[in-house]
This record gives sequence, structure tokens and C-alpha cells, in this order.
Amino acid sequence: KTVSLKDSYKDDFYIGTALSADQIEGKDAKVDSLVKKEFNAITAENIMKSMFVHPSPDKYDFALTDKFVAYGEKNKMFIHGHTLIWHSQLAPWMEKIKDSTEMKAFMKDHITTIVSKYKGRINSWDVVNEALNEDGTLRKSVFLNTLGERYLVDAFKLAAAADPKVDLYYNDYNIEEPAKREGAIKLIKKIKSAGGKIDGVGIQGHWRLASPSLDEIEKSILAYSKLGIKVAITELDITVLPNPWDLKGADVNQNFEGSAKMNPYPEKLPDSIQVKLAERYASIFKLFLKHKDKISRVTFWGVHDGQSWLNDWPIKGRTNYPLLFDTKLHPKKAYNSVQQLKESK
Ligand code: G3I
Repeated sequence: KTVSLKDSYKDDFYIGTALSADQIEGKDAKVDSLVKKEFNAITAENIMKSMFVHPSPDKYDFALTDKFVAYGEKNKMFIHGHTLIWHSQLAPWMEKIKDSTEMKAFMKDHITTIVSKYKGRINSWDVVNEALNEDGTLRKSVFLNTLGERYLVDAFKLAAAADPKVDLYYNDYNIEEPAKREGAIKLIKKIKSAGGKIDGVGIQGHWRLASPSLDEIEKSILAYSKLGIKVAITELDITVLPNPWDLKGADVNQNFEGSAKMNPYPEKLPDSIQVKLAERYASIFKLFLKHKDKISRVTFWGVHDGQSWLNDWPIKGRTNYPLLFDTKLHPKKAYNSVQQLKESK
């Protein structure tokens, strides 16, 4: 099959992937040609996060982020920035920021420096990432603790001031679940009513075979787009492995590292599950196509199964199969099912 994903979906939405540091540097030629063939949007999986890009108060490290942006430009890709304000993967000095004066100064410097550096070259930014708890309340973080909820509006205002044309996103996981979705809607409305510029919401899409339901995903696409913003699926992958916390009773207290129960397919994904994964991807993409007027981009969190973060989370060293390409870079049944949706048109 020679038609790529990005070509099949070119009239619908961008098809993106996250890139690791090695992939940005094109270290593996086969992966590199696959990325260029199949995808027209890129996100940096780690290197734009604050601990990497801003390791100490007076030091920024743009060596890899420059390469990332150049890679996207050279290949005429949509370039997404991930992420400016996030409680995780912070440099240790950021964790120690203790009051509102210091935090205001940090945010102004951090956001202004990074966003203006790539002004006009990056297409969209995750301005704030994962600010919500599962019940829709605001997550405790160094940002909330020092500034209160105004940090959200401040972040969006600072980003817009640094590059008035770039699209600004709020990005989070599980925001297709009702309580967290309500929280996200409230948050977005608050940013807007306080005069912040917000252009889109990123539904991360770290999903499972059986959940979330298509119905909740659809309700979410509709609810967010009703706010007058774009919807992007920003970190799509579908785990086929059990979660330790889904086990009941005595099992819960086991140490799961190395447990066969938690790593049931170390060599190969059984065909029956391969088919289930393909069906799940097809139903999800069918829904995306139905709402293509509302969806700006669908980005996978990784190029192939061999490098997915899900091999190391929530337990290290498992063998997961969440993406469209296998460890040998061959398209899986799931790839074909996503392609077939377009062929039958
Ligand atoms: O940088 C060190 C390296 O020096 C060391 O040799 C290596 C050994 O394990 O670890 C490296 O750090 C790892 C880092 O990725 C860079 O590769 C961390 O251990 C690892 O925890 C970290 O994981 C990343 C995770 O975010 C951190 O929370 C994943 O790669 C990345 O896929 C994941 O991405 C997040 C999104 O940014 C936000 N949404 C959820 C998504 C999945 O968790």
C-alpha cells in the first residue's frame, strides 16, 4: 500500500506523531523515512518540557528544540509545541519557587522567552498541560500553590503577547470523562471571560480497548467545539494491557513488576486482540471523520510500538502494542483499518 496516512486524511485533519530526541535527530533512517512518509504534524515527546529547555534560572537549552523546529520546517509539517506550563518534568529549581512574585517572574520569563523564540515558526502550543484532577477540580501544583487559579489566565495572556498569531491550547487526559470534562469546560470559559486567548483544547487520547465510550468522546468533541475553540486529539494511543489498579482483592497488593499477569503478551499480540485493536481504531477514526469540521489534528503518541511510553507505564518493562506500526515498523491491522475508512469513500 503506497498511500500514506497523511495523504488519505489530507482533506480532514493533520495526522501527527510525537518524536523522541533520537527521532528528531534522525538517528534511525528507517524510522525517519516512515515519519516523513506517514505524518504531516509533529510534537516533541519530551525535549520542550521545562526541565530540558530551562534547566536553571538563567539557562535555556535550545539545541534540540532548534533541531525539532527545523525538522518540521524542512518537511513542511505542522509543528506543535509541548508544553509550557506543566507540574511534571519541571526542573528542580522550579519546584522550589515559593511565592507569587517569584512565580510571576518565572512565568513571564519562561513563556515569553520560549514562545517569542519560535514566533511564526511553531503553529500551536500547549500552554497549560494537565491542570485538572479527575473530579474536575484544579490540581495542586507549584503554580496553583503560589498564584492560585489566576496562573491559568496569566499563562494564556503571556503566550498570546509573545506570539499573537500562534494557536494556544489547553491539553489534558481523561477530559472526555464527564466530571473532568465539566472541569475543563469551566476552566476554558474562565480563561476566556478573564480576557485570555485560547484557541483550542487537546484531548490527549491515552485510551483503552473498552473505554472511554464513543458516546463520551463524541459528547466531548461537541461540548468543546460549542465553546468556539478547535479540538485536537493530541497524544493518541490505545493500551491493550491490564492496569494493576483494575485488579480486585488480594491481587491489588502484589508487586507487579515482572508479573506475567501484567505482561500477558511478551512476544506477540494474539490475532484476536490485534483485530480488536483494529476495530477500536476504526470506530474512533470514524467518529473523528464524522466531526472533521471540528477536529484540527490527530496526533499519535509515538511512531511505533517499540518506543511507546506505555512499555514503561504504569509498570516498567512491559510489551504493549498501542500504535499503528509494530516494532519492525510494519503497519498493523489497526493501520489498515484506519486506511480502509478512507478507501471505502
Ligand atoms: O532523561 C532521562 C535519561 O537521562 C535517562 O537515561 C532515562 C532512563 O530511564 O530517563 C530519561 O528520562 C525519561 C524521560 O521520559 C525522557 O526519556 C523519564 O525517565 C521518563 O519518565 C519520561 O517519560 C515521559 C513522560 O511523559 C514523563 O511524564 C515519556 O517519555 C512521555 O511520553 C510522557 O508524555 C506525557 C505527555 O508529555 C503529557 N501527557 C501524558 C504523556 C504520557 O505520560
